[in-house]
Amino acid sequence: MSQSADTAAAQAWTFFRQWLKNPIKMASITPSGQQLAGMMLAELPADARRVVELGGGTGVFTAAMLARGIAPSDLMVVELNAELSEHLRRRFPQARVVQGDARELPALAKANGFDDGVAVDAVISGLGMLSMPKALQQQIMAAAFACLRPGGRFVQFTYGPKVPVAREVVEALALDVRKGGMAWRNLPPASVYVFTRR
Ligand SMILES: C[S@@+](CC[C@H](N)C(=O)[O-])C[C@H]1O[C@@H](n2cnc3c(N)ncnc32)[C@H](O)[C@@H]1O
Repeated sequence: MSQSADTAAAQAWTFFRQWLKNPIKMASITPSGQQLAGMMLAELPADARRVVELGGGTGVFTAAMLARGIAPSDLMVVELNAELSEHLRRRFPQARVVQGDARELPALAKANGFDDGVAVDAVISGLGMLSMPKALQQQIMAAAFACLRPGGRFVQFTYGPKVPVAREVVEALALDVRKGGMAWRNLPPASVYVFTRR
């Protein structure tokens, strides 16, 4: 087995063990694939420098962002699960991995020196937004938009057939939403949505 196959298998196993413990919070049985990672990153603003990732999991999107050239000092990865946060820290020792709740994003940014006046261009979310109650969706989206610069983007994927955030939440926060790419080869297939402030 090649080293990358071995690493992918180990990551799938790490993810699956966490899914067994908490299927609702994990929201998927396997990590996202490379096609979906590519489609998520395609929605970053062309000049994106500073990025927050929510729900880093085993780090599929983290790895893709670092490979694309986002500087580790300009990336903050928030992951609620203790074991996965530790996994992310070991896998990306140069990145800023924070164990915490996406709802607390402004406070986490402050506590981790990520509110130093450089605006956040995009939030890349791997959270299982579709399975969350509306109130939690709204808290998370409000926290993200409190950190994003004007025109900044919130990029979210979903396995469902429609926008993964409730219409009431989109309206309450005065957001626009558009559909991005569809990753057919992902397991399960997933589509990407981009939210911006009106
Ligand atoms: C569907 S997995 C996605 C993981 C990874 N981004 C991927 O695409 O493979 C969702 C991740 O969000 C994390 N998570 C769930 N609720 C969270 C919250 N409120 N704040 C931060 N992370 C959360 C879970 O622990 C899990 O790692």
